[in-house]
Amino acid sequence: MTTVLQNDLLIRAALSQPTERPPVWMMRQAGRFMPEYWEIKNKYSFLEMCKTPEIAADVTMLPVDLLGIDAAILFSDILVTAEAMGGDLSFEQGVGPRFSNPIRSLADVEQLSVDCLDKLQYVAEAIKVIQQRLDGRIPLIGFAGAPFTILSYLVEGGSSKDFKQTKLLLNNEPAMAHLILQKIADVTVEYLNMQVDAGVNALQLFDSWALALSWNDYREFAHRYNHYILSKIKRSVPVISFCKGSSVFAPIMAEANPDVISVDWNADLKNIKQSLPEGIAVQGNLDPFVLYADKKVIKTKILDLFERMRGENGFIFNLGHGIMPDIPFDNVKYAVDVIKEYR
Ligand code: CP3
Repeated sequence: MTTVLQNDLLIRAALSQPTERPPVWMMRQAGRFMPEYWEIKNKYSFLEMCKTPEIAADVTMLPVDLLGIDAAILFSDILVTAEAMGGDLSFEQGVGPRFSNPIRSLADVEQLSVDCLDKLQYVAEAIKVIQQRLDGRIPLIGFAGAPFTILSYLVEGGSSKDFKQTKLLLNNEPAMAHLILQKIADVTVEYLNMQVDAGVNALQLFDSWALALSWNDYREFAHRYNHYILSKIKRSVPVISFCKGSSVFAPIMAEANPDVISVDWNADLKNIKQSLPEGIAVQGNLDPFVLYADKKVIKTKILDLFERMRGENGFIFNLGHGIMPDIPFDNVKYAVDVIKEYR
């Protein structure tokens, strides 16, 4: 089913075509900073929310209806692929994601299933429900976690500050790391293609923790698999490549041939854009902490970024990373309004 989009700003910007103003969406736009999110969250566990298409659709629609952003992003999590592969995943309040069976040996790696798309069908169902509700108003972004970032959760057993176990594996057992990464990459290709078939209008690959890697390790353990994924998936929709560390790794990320590179807040966005090959758009890169500040500061910092990017095709407004749960909703709404008034 292809519906003509009423607001296709995101798609045009992703394809480096002219737009009346830059489109806006925000990573983690459906989440705990919204009181309406809590009304749902108090009734179900996070994984129940992800796995029940009607609920996932309800949450996906919250920022569409309450913020008026230019793109919806599927409500799910990057770790659902790791769960489908055999990771015993739970999300505990205040703790974050946990795998009770972290990978410790080659036997654990062999246990990881690559034939698990059937376990992710609920995501295809959610996409269909969301597209019915969106009814062509704005595009829907699908996503997956990138192999390195997913590996880090499977190996650490959860979030990590220093990625010690992950780096020990990369350094001491690189062959084993490659086995894991290839399995995740193969699942991710099938998973993203399933999302395209179900009707998403764009894709984002999240390599959130690539920042932890050195230049050479980024190339060997992250880029190589992201490149593989981007070369194998259906490229009928634009693909956004995100990592924390993109200020440094953007030249390597570009070699994987994404349509858009999503940039963290360290770099000057225009300098990054101009350093990239023609036709690669950028997304970013307001420091999300700005959204805690006074409204006049929020406005000034957004306008500074927009003036810096004036005249550049291929610019999507986003944050350098996700919205924090305690950012005032009113400030986020204000930021969206400032952007939508910009000409
Ligand atoms: O952006 C969106 O609004 C769409 C939904 C989405 C979620 N997670 C919902 C979520 C997306 C795109 C993600 C991606 C994700 N998940 C990433 C990559 C983006 C990034 O921030 O770098 C990562 C690293 C994860 C893993 C993950 N999931 C962590 C570390 C946590 C716990 C941290 C936290 O904020 O509590 C989650 C849980 C999670 N994913 C929540 C939401 C709304 C919070 C669940 C809750 O309500 O308790």
